[in-house]
Parts: sequence; C-alpha cells; structure tokens
Amino acid sequence: MNLAITGPTSGIGAETFKALTKDFDKLLILARNLDKAKDLIQSLDSNIRTKAVFVPLDLADMNSIVKSIALIEKEVEHLDVLINNAGGIFQNKEITKDGFELTFSANHLGHFLLTHHLIPLLLKSKSPKVINVSSEAHRAAKPNFNDVQYENGNYSSFNAYANAKLFNILFTKSLVDRYSSKGLSSFALHPGVVKSNFGMETSGVFKFLWKLATPFMVTPKEGAKTSIYLAKNKIDKSYNGYYFKNSKPNTPSTTARSKKMQERLWQESERLLNKWL
Ligand SMILES: NC(=O)c1ccc[n+]([C@@H]2O[C@H](COP(=O)([O-])OP(=O)(O)OC[C@H]3O[C@@H](n4cnc5c(N)ncnc54)[C@H](OP(=O)(O)O)[C@@H]3O)[C@@H](O)[C@H]2O)c1
Repeated sequence: MNLAITGPTSGIGAETFKALTKDFDKLLILARNLDKAKDLIQSLDSNIRTKAVFVPLDLADMNSIVKSIALIEKEVEHLDVLINNAGGIFQNKEITKDGFELTFSANHLGHFLLTHHLIPLLLKSKSPKVINVSSEAHRAAKPNFNDVQYENGNYSSFNAYANAKLFNILFTKSLVDRYSSKGLSSFALHPGVVKSNFGMETSGVFKFLWKLATPFMVTPKEGAKTSIYLAKNKIDKSYNGYYFKNSKPNTPSTTARSKKMQERLWQESERLLNKWL
C-alpha cells in the first residue's frame, strides 16, 4: 500500500501523515520545503524512515507538479491513497508565476493537476482513494465562474478561501462521477477548527477573530482524525463522493451538491491548466 500526501510538513497534514506511517509501504511526502521535509523524515523511527520519500512540489508552481509525477512513478507502481491536504488563506491577493490567484492555485488548481496526472497510478490500485481536505468555510462561498481569479478587483481573503474549499467538494464529486466505475473512491472533509499554522498569513479582522477563537480550537492531532479515518477504513460504497465531518458523512451546502457547479469547475480548471495537462 502506498500513500501520497500534500502538506505533511505542518499542522493537520503532519499528524495525518505520522498516524498513517505504519499502514503503508511507501510514504510520499509531497512538499515545497526541503528543510521541513527533512525534519519530518528525521522525526520518524528508523524502520519507518526508509519508507519515506520527499517529492518536491509547490502547488503554486504547475511545472513542479508535472515534474513530481516522474519522481512518484519511479517510486511506486501504484498509488492507493492520495490525500490532498495542503492549503491556506492569504491576506493579500497574490498571483503565482503561472498567473493564477494563489488561494485558488494552492487549494484547488494544484491538486486538480496533481490528481489528474496521478489517476493512472491510482487506477492501478485495488481500491484507490483521493481524500480532499475541505472546510466548513465552504458554506460561505460565493463563486463567480466568470471571475474565478478575482480580476475585477473584488478579492477578499476569506471569500477566496471559502470558494476554494467549496471547489474541493465539487472536485471530489466530479472525481467520483468520472472514475468510480473504474474503482476510485473520493471523499472531502472538514477537519474541525484547528490550532495550526493556518491563518498566520492573514492580518486585520480575520486574524483578530481567528486569535479570539484560539482557546476553542482543537489540536492538529484531533483535526487529523477524519483524514485518518477515511484513509484507513473501507468506506461503504454508498458514501462515495461524500463530505465528512467528525468521521461521519455530513450534508454540504446546496452549492456543493450542484452538478452544474461541478461541471463548470471541471471545465474551467481544464481550460486554465490546459498547457500542463
Ligand atoms: N486549521 C483549521 O482550522 C482548518 C479548518 C478547515 C480546513 N483546514 C484545511 O486543512 C488543511 C491543512 O491546514 P492546516 O490547518 O494544517 O494548516 P498549516 O499548518 O498551515 O499547514 C498547511 C500545509 O500546506 C502546505 N502548503 C501551503 N501552501 C503550499 C503550496 N503552495 N505548495 C505545497 N504545500 C503548501 C504547507 O507547507 P509549508 O509547511 O511549507 O508551509 C503546510 O504543510 C488545509 O487545506 C486547510 O484549508 C484547516
């Protein structure tokens, strides 16, 4: 059994990764920061360390994602679980070198491209899973598919984040529509409100409110529980494509269940990523 996870260098991803090390033969650490990846590997017991492989990948750099595929293909013949965990909220609108708005790129587009290229390896597994870490913030989403990159000057960090987390759920459902007949399962989840590095790149009202909420937040270990549950357990087929919270199926927003939205997101993602697909 082989695992690949994005964002295992901090917070929820780090705890998810550590809890799963014993269940997999190969552990692919998909991360952008070499020093953090080295520290993570060093923290593992020596018998586990030999299973871990660092794969450089920046979700804000599409070429790095394409490059990572060749490395992954060298390491594993099939992939059993892909956890698209990395993400973040960013105070100011930033444009990546590929010309994408950073929140959209790091939370959705990068994972779309990564998953697209890993589908052949996933479909070689007996029961492949793609787990997408979303958020309850998706309920506040107000997506505008005519302006997914906030080019009309209406960027707000929270709205961009809420939209991206909605996209994680729509993407999950699209994966199931397209690949469940070939054996693929996909799930989205809310990890809880977790005290991690999340929100550290914000300022102003969001950061103030986030700090106020700190005493009520759960630990990253607690926040990792639903990801771990979905990665480790055989989930009943009837829940394929579902959104989970506290390791239980939960009903996401009406928008998150819209087929039309699903399709628009898929088409728009393919259009924007055309040159890397
Ligand atoms: N914390 C919460 O309350 C909460 C609630 C709901 C959902 N979530 C979701 O949970 C997931 C994990 O968040 P967290 O709370 O654990 O936050 P975190 O501690 O900030 O960890 C985020 C992880 O994502 C990685 N990452 C960010 N941008 C990246 C990029 N461009 N390329 C590659 N990796 C990148 C970070 O890498 P570095 O270590 O290199 O920075 C880090 O490993 C996110 O998807 C977040 O949206 C969090």
